[in-house]
Amino acid sequence: MPYLGALIGPCHGGTPAGMQDRNLALEVVRITEAAALASARLMGRGDRKLADHVAVEAMRRAFDAIDIRGTVVIGEGERDEAPMLFIGETVGAGWHAGAADSPKVDIAVDPLEGTNLCATGEPDAISVIAIADDGQFLNAPDTYMQKIAVGPEARGLIDLRESPTWNLERIAKAKNKKIQDVTCVILDRERHAELIGEVRQAGARIRLIGDGDVSGAVMTANPDSGIDVLFGTGGAPEGVIAAAALKCVGGELQGRLRFRSAEEKARAERMGVKDEHRIYQTEDLAKGDVMFAATGVTKGYLLDGVRFFGDSAKTESIVMRSKSGTVRVINATHHFNTKPKYSWATGLEP
Ligand code: FBP
Repeated sequence: MPYLGALIGPCHGGTPAGMQDRNLALEVVRITEAAALASARLMGRGDRKLADHVAVEAMRRAFDAIDIRGTVVIGEGERDEAPMLFIGETVGAGWHAGAADSPKVDIAVDPLEGTNLCATGEPDAISVIAIADDGQFLNAPDTYMQKIAVGPEARGLIDLRESPTWNLERIAKAKNKKIQDVTCVILDRERHAELIGEVRQAGARIRLIGDGDVSGAVMTANPDSGIDVLFGTGGAPEGVIAAAALKCVGGELQGRLRFRSAEEKARAERMGVKDEHRIYQTEDLAKGDVMFAATGVTKGYLLDGVRFFGDSAKTESIVMRSKSGTVRVINATHHFNTKPKYSWATGLEP
């Protein structure tokens, strides 16, 4: 994959006691690999729910091999609607062992980001995880979030309150380009008709995506992706995960919650949202020292997808950490005959 590290700016966060100096992202990449391997088996089958289900199961099992005391704060939904990886669920071997020295961390997961992309074999379905110390992620309600995301060159220059044209001018200037050379990624949705119209009017280029605005946001920090900015409204939980990723590479994501119903608003209030118009900055979404890992499921602009070779498969992942700003690209070959049969070989129970 094109290397993301070229533009990494200085990335700061605290050094919380929880994560200390252990680079957990290097360990948890095994979790996104497991979910990617499982769901990729079902690429193109047209069954997004099954693809998601096997990713969730594989991810849930893989957590048991990691020495952490994790609590899911962004997951598959609330306890009554998700059997696994529900909000509040504790994960990691640290809890079983009762090891008080295992780091206590917040976990944000999307085992299969872009379920439709996997079901149809389109680009950029990924499996993702982000980790922060206890209490550092915004407990985002399952609603929409209006977002703007950029890589390091335009960090500090964008403002969600301003128009897309205003932002495009600033991004173009920061990147020393004409607006005509700026490329935006936008979810292809009816609700974005006006946004798309304005961006076209301003003269910028657009890559419309069917799904997957976490990938879309992360691409803005990758010069080789050709993507300069993500505009538009997508999932709020995805906004927190993307903010964690961009923080690691010195980029920026701003978001504002957008409720689809009175129930969503009431639920958000119960989760502590006081000001529905608040603009969340990257640091409000993902505080302190954060880590991010993603593995490609389908081949995309961000990552290569899973490739199967009889007894083995290859995966490509990125692992990043805000404390150091290091971005690692991990290419792994997984040999099924030396791994448990379940998740690696089929993604399904034997
Ligand atoms: P899933 O992986 O749950 O299918 O979500 C994909 C996604 O495209 C996200 O990337 C995005 O934030 C959200 O759905 C947009 O929601 P909607 O499809 O309702 O516009």
